[in-house]
Amino acid sequence: MAEFFEPCSASGTHCEAMGRGRFLSVNIKVCRDANNGFVMNNIYLPYLAAIKDIYEEAPEVRTLRLVFKDPRLRESFDFKTGQFGLFSAFGSGESTFCIASPQTRKGYIQCTFRKTGRVTGALSMLNVGDTVGFRGPYGNFFPVEEWKGKNLVFIAGGIGIAPVRSVVWTCLDRREDYGEITVVYGAKTVEDLVYKNELKHWDERGDVFLVQTVDPGGETPEWKGRVGFVPAVLEETALRAENTVAVICGPPVMIKFSLKALEKLGFDGSSVYTTLENRMKCGVGKCGRCNVGDVYICKEGPVYTAAEIKRMYNDF
Ligand SMILES: Cc1cc2nc3c(=O)[nH]c(=O)nc-3n(C[C@H](O)[C@H](O)[C@H](O)COP(=O)(O)OP(=O)(O)OC[C@H]3O[C@@H](n4cnc5c(N)ncnc54)[C@H](O)[C@@H]3O)c2cc1C
Ligand code: FES
Repeated sequence: MAEFFEPCSASGTHCEAMGRGRFLSVNIKVCRDANNGFVMNNIYLPYLAAIKDIYEEAPEVRTLRLVFKDPRLRESFDFKTGQFGLFSAFGSGESTFCIASPQTRKGYIQCTFRKTGRVTGALSMLNVGDTVGFRGPYGNFFPVEEWKGKNLVFIAGGIGIAPVRSVVWTCLDRREDYGEITVVYGAKTVEDLVYKNELKHWDERGDVFLVQTVDPGGETPEWKGRVGFVPAVLEETALRAENTVAVICGPPVMIKFSLKALEKLGFDGSSVYTTLENRMKCGVGKCGRCNVGDVYICKEGPVYTAAEIKRMYNDF
């Protein structure tokens, strides 16, 4: 029994073993509670969180600020930027989102999602004070500690700004650890830009070089940013590849052409990072939904370097 011992995250319990229930299709943890009685924890059981704030970011895109109901969890919860969770709307199901808030801010988490279907539709109907479920944090993360002393370039398209925002704020909260910080962000139209207030703040703070762009036709008469697709704008932005790390998140086509643009600028595949958004179900390496060959993205990813992605997918 002792060899299976591992700490248990369930409050008020002491975990003694982990295994697959003989007659259950789910994994269970067998724990002792405060009275030394056995309790079983289902690893698919979500934590409960209350919606504290809702921000309507763009058409069909909203951010939820969530606070765990269990005060002990609220204090102890920790994650690394780039990790994701399974967010549930009760009665509708679970959806995978990155944790969009930075690892440096404690006591709450945020997610930002686009309404695309069943679960995101249900989450879009909720109000402040309602309860959602959260499982996580899962997956690997951006190695921000290894990037100390380097220049950082963040490239995002559309809702792909959500994971980028988490890592940008994590680095801005430790601004002295990094060199120049550049953000290149594009959306279809001005209205579709997500985190408009934060973009304004990054633009004004003086230690971030922000380049915003919208697709041709998406500009308004007042628009002062660029007009053009992200990879083209990226190529025109004077970026030094030397001692610089790049992070790209967005639609696959944007990632593909941004990688080519970075290559032209002299970036090496091992200094360019992205996150993969393969469809997921369990999030913990059990269901086989997310795999590419024998790689389980939910366990080994979602953060990869461009060099690793090239080895996994031939067409990148
Ligand atoms: C690691 C990871 C992080 C993610 N982070 C975010 C995030 O921060 N914000 C966000 O808005 N979305 C994110 N996604 C995508 C998100 O999980 C899906 O859009 C969401 O689950 C759709 O749920 P639904 O029930 O509303 O849609 P469904 O009813 O299940 O599907 C609606 C439509 O979306 C398609 N779809 C569902 N999942 C995906 C997917 N993963 N990729 C492409 N198409 C999909 C379906 O085929 C269908 O056409 C992330 C996905 C992963 C794997
Ligand atoms: S999502 Fe189930 S194995 Fe990765």
